[in-house]
Order: sequence, then C-alpha cells, then structure tokens
Amino acid sequence: MLIVGARPQFIKAAPVVEQELDGYEWLLVHTGQHYDYRMSRAFFEELSIPTPDRQLEVGPMAPAPQIAKMIERLWDVIQEDAPAVCAVFGDTNSTLAGALAADLAGVPLAHVEAGLRSGDMKMPEERNRVITDKLSDVLVVPHERAADILAAEGATGKVIDAGDTTYETALKAIPLAEDVERVSPFGVNRGEYVFVTCHRQATVDDAGELRKVTEALFDIPLKVVFPVHPRTEKRLREFGLWDRLAEYNKVTLTEPAGYITTLALIYSTAAVITDSGGIQREAYLYGVPTVTLRDVTEWTETVDGGGNTLAGTEPEAIKTAVRKAIARPVDNRLVRRELVGDPKPSKRIADALSELAGRRTCDK
Ligand code: UD1
Repeated sequence: MLIVGARPQFIKAAPVVEQELDGYEWLLVHTGQHYDYRMSRAFFEELSIPTPDRQLEVGPMAPAPQIAKMIERLWDVIQEDAPAVCAVFGDTNSTLAGALAADLAGVPLAHVEAGLRSGDMKMPEERNRVITDKLSDVLVVPHERAADILAAEGATGKVIDAGDTTYETALKAIPLAEDVERVSPFGVNRGEYVFVTCHRQATVDDAGELRKVTEALFDIPLKVVFPVHPRTEKRLREFGLWDRLAEYNKVTLTEPAGYITTLALIYSTAAVITDSGGIQREAYLYGVPTVTLRDVTEWTETVDGGGNTLAGTEPEAIKTAVRKAIARPVDNRLVRRELVGDPKPSKRIADALSELAGRRTCDK
C-alpha cells in the first residue's frame, strides 16, 4: 500500500508504481491532503499515475484534526485491504499519518526519503520525518549522508540507499522540459527571466518573512515568473502584499503550474529562487543556478556541487545571490545525469518493498 497525499509525493511515487513487484500488487491510497485539480489530479494525468485505488478525501483543515482524520480513514482501509507492507514518502502530514496508521495496525512500514534532517524541530516537516523514521522497518535513503544520519541516531530499521526518485522523474522528463514553447505563454524566452516559488510555512506564514521575500522581487534585473501555491496566495492577500506584486509589470503571478510546465520553467530560467526541496533538486539536475530562501538545506549536494546558494530571506542577500546566479551563461549548462544510478531508484524501492513483504510472510 503506497500512501500519498501531497504534490511532491505524486512526483516521488510516479516511477515507483510503474515498477513490477515480486509476487505482490500495488494499492495506491490518496489521503486528499492536496485536492485541487492543479495540485493533485493534474499531476496524476501528466505523470500517468494510475487513479488511486482508495481516495480518503480528508481535505483542508488544521494539522491536528487533519492528521487524526487521515489516521482514522487509513486505519479503515488497512483493516479492509490488509496490505503486506505500507510505504510512505517524504515529510508531509500524509507521511506522518500513514506511518502512525501502519504502525498502530502492525503492518511493516517503509519510509521513502528517510534520514533527512534540517535540525529544526519547529518545522512540521522535520517532526514528520523524525517520527516516521523511528517507526519504519525499512528506511529508504536518497544518499549516503542520510544513511550516516540514521546510523548516528541509532536507527533500528533496515537502511537501503536507493537514490532519489525526484531526480529520476525529472531526468525522464527532459525532452519535454527543454521545449521552450512551454515557457512562452508566460511572456518570456529562455534565459530572460527568474523563476520563483515559495510555500513553506516558515517563509509564508510570517508576515515579516514574506514581506522581505517580496521586497527582493521588486529589485531583480530580469522578469520574474512566480506560480503561486494556494497557501502563499492566501498569505500574500492577508498581509496586503498581493496587489502591489500583481500590479508590478516585471512580475507575472500565475496559478500553481503543472509538473512539466514547472520543469520547463526551471530548464529555461536564468536562475531559480525557491524554498522548495524538490525544486532545489530539479534545478541542480538541470544545472540551473538556485537561490534558496532558507539558511539550511537537506539537499546539501546542491550546495556542495556549486549550484545552490543558501541566501535566507534578507532582501540584500537574495538580490546579491540572484545577480551572481544570472551572470552565468544559460547555454553551457550540463545536465547531471549521474545523479540517477543504475538500477534506477524506483526499481530499488520496488525490490526493497517486495523483500519487506516477503519477510513478513515468512515471519507469520
Ligand atoms: C504541504 C507539506 C509540505 C510540502 C507541500 C507541497 C505538510 C506539513 N506540509 O504543505 O511539506 O512541501 O505540501 O505543496 O504536510 N490548498 C489548496 N488546494 C490544494 C492543497 C492545499 O487550496 O490542493 C491550501 C489548503 O487549503 C491550505 C494551504 O493550501 O490552506 C496549505 O495546504 P497544506 O496541505 O496544509 O500544506 P502545504 O502548504 O501544501
């Protein structure tokens, strides 16, 4: 049973459900955390992910009741479907709820994207990761550093280094992403604009932080294309920042973009400004310089590899980093194909899940 619910999880799970299991079948469960067409179904369509077998339709609410409701509905489907194994992805509320429901039902649990830490337990994502890792029988890590972190924490689950399906999905999509026609509807050409996204609670739920980020956007030497996450739009309006940004002729605010459109906007941009973990990695894979609106990143390879600058949210720091990033020529970028190993991460994950399911059958 693969449990997903939020946009990044659809991207991570997409290549995994394409793989064959050894003696088992997939059962795909969608918690309903993300429910808009553009945040959910659009991704299933673009990534050819099968329609979920179970739709829990939990929808938007405060985190505690949302997680509680997810656990309750997951408990019911686990009772009904009796999975051999549950797998959860990433670090969202759907991840935590899936982990708790599987654990409480006594079903073996695998966490895909285990071992990542920001060190900041105030981030909901960090709490979700730490608790999920503690409960997991199999910890699928995207790289060796994550395995080291788990070892230092004394993790008891079996650690499997499978690589990162975010890279796998984005690598496969390159022929679509490099089509510049996909960015022309935004009124821009290749190399002529900066691509912006931000949605993390720490960035957008605090009026001061969000104001600083928008300040920086008024002073960027290129056009800005900014697809706005629903949480961010709500906050920009609430904090009185939306109108001035929307009226500024160098900034294009749009609806959340689909997956392929997002990759195309990353591929052809002069630089990325983001607080998203997925977009930091997609930009790194495509060789695109990135300015990250955080002081730390869980994806340290993107910084060590020279593509990503951690600028935080001070406007001066953002502007300086962006000026440096856009000075790099767009046309001699190299795609870092080596980030996806062989066998592919999705194949390794499917094999690990088959093995975990088999282990449980033997234990019985
Ligand atoms: C969640 C994850 C975050 C992940 C992000 C990707 C948690 C704690 N956070 O944050 O780690 O990076 O997903 O997007 O799980 N909304 C809509 N339509 C939708 C989905 C959400 O309008 O389809 C609105 C919600 O009503 C809510 C806001 O956006 O007001 C935030 O949604 P929520 O799922 O709580 O968290 P994200 O900010 O998306």
